[in-house]
Amino acid sequence: MTLGRTLKRGSVHGDAHEARGGSLLVTHIGELVTNDPARGDPLGILTDAALTVESGHVAWIGPASRAPAADRVLDARGAAVIPGFVDSHTHLVFAGDRAGEFAARMRGERYDGGGIASTVVATRQASDEVLRANLRRLVGEAHAQGTTTLECKSGYGLSTQDEARSLRLAREVTDETTFLGAHVVPPEFAGRPDEYVALVTGPMLAAVAPHARWVDVFCERGVFDVDASRTVLRAGMAAGLLPRVHANQLGPGPGVALAVEVGAASADHCTHLSPSDIDALASSGTVATLLPGAEFSTRSPYPDARRLLAAGVTVALATDCNPGSSYTTSMPFCLALAVREMGMSPAQALWAATAGGARALRRTDVGWLAVGTRADLTILAAPSHLHLAYRPGVNLIDAVLIGGERVTPAGADSAHGTEET
Ligand code: NIG
Ligand code: FE
Repeated sequence: MTLGRTLKRGSVHGDAHEARGGSLLVTHIGELVTNDPARGDPLGILTDAALTVESGHVAWIGPASRAPAADRVLDARGAAVIPGFVDSHTHLVFAGDRAGEFAARMRGERYDGGGIASTVVATRQASDEVLRANLRRLVGEAHAQGTTTLECKSGYGLSTQDEARSLRLAREVTDETTFLGAHVVPPEFAGRPDEYVALVTGPMLAAVAPHARWVDVFCERGVFDVDASRTVLRAGMAAGLLPRVHANQLGPGPGVALAVEVGAASADHCTHLSPSDIDALASSGTVATLLPGAEFSTRSPYPDARRLLAAGVTVALATDCNPGSSYTTSMPFCLALAVREMGMSPAQALWAATAGGARALRRTDVGWLAVGTRADLTILAAPSHLHLAYRPGVNLIDAVLIGGERVTPAGADSAHGTEET
């Protein structure tokens, strides 16, 4: 389910990363964030800690002074260790970029999603090799910034063939693949949205279903209305996919209510919420996934995370990495924005970027560290998780382990001091 399986095949970075096997002890952890509720709220922090890994999973957690022996030792030298980030919302299968559109926005133009069409043109024209290389470059960036699980959507193909190939490529790097054929109505269906929805819910869905776990829709004024969105989600669910929704990004609307109605794992964006949207989220199992990179890059008001948290809503943070509204793979950047611009505490933001993301993907094996979870973790070049927001824009990622295997820096001891023996 995580990127680790692919990495062990050596297919993401290109520089094959072989599983070394045997047990691993990670020790001299100054601050270990476990997100284990049994260890206290909210982050379940242990100090002077250690953990061991066997067969890709956490086998033991406790005080460094009582750590058992292992075949290999990774010395964190007093640094903080956190669960790997779970980036539950990305759009990484595309070609080209839209830097000019970004510059125009910074001059004052508004974002309305209209640029998606230009990425669709570039993506359709690109070869599989070009799309794969771009996808892997972005996954590599994400790893280097501490991400160990990521979700990836289609949505820049918008034909049966191009959506199927987008999801086939996405499946090469993650099992958390999402069919977003209902991203926008493509130009060849202009003025005929019902016919496009019939394609999305018919032949296109049939072609993509083997490659997708999730179905998503951009439910927004001027894009897909609530009836079309419901039709897309229900058809996806009937084909065995699980729902998630792009909701209430550009303005108030019915997206969040629809997400709750269909039992979506997550309503994403949640920038413009009514009190009843917040009540609906609070009394549901639907996570509110906030994407502050999109507000940053579109110069929009940030969602009100504090109101959501105060109401008891489960909040996740993700990058929304895409070439239009949020071209960042950096979870630390999004976490820093959430703290500074959305009023989240550093602990709330870190939980949302790890355990929250796991909830948004309905995963219990990642996003926290306890005996039996996947050994997906990030060693920081910092003594505390607070530094992630306190030192924004600084690379504080020392080493990243997926299933207990180090994925970055590739095969070398870190520049920051972590030592493996
Ligand atoms: O999540 N809102 C719709 N989709 C993307 C943006 C896609 C684009 O602009 O290319 C989002 O922000
Ligand atoms: Fe998105």
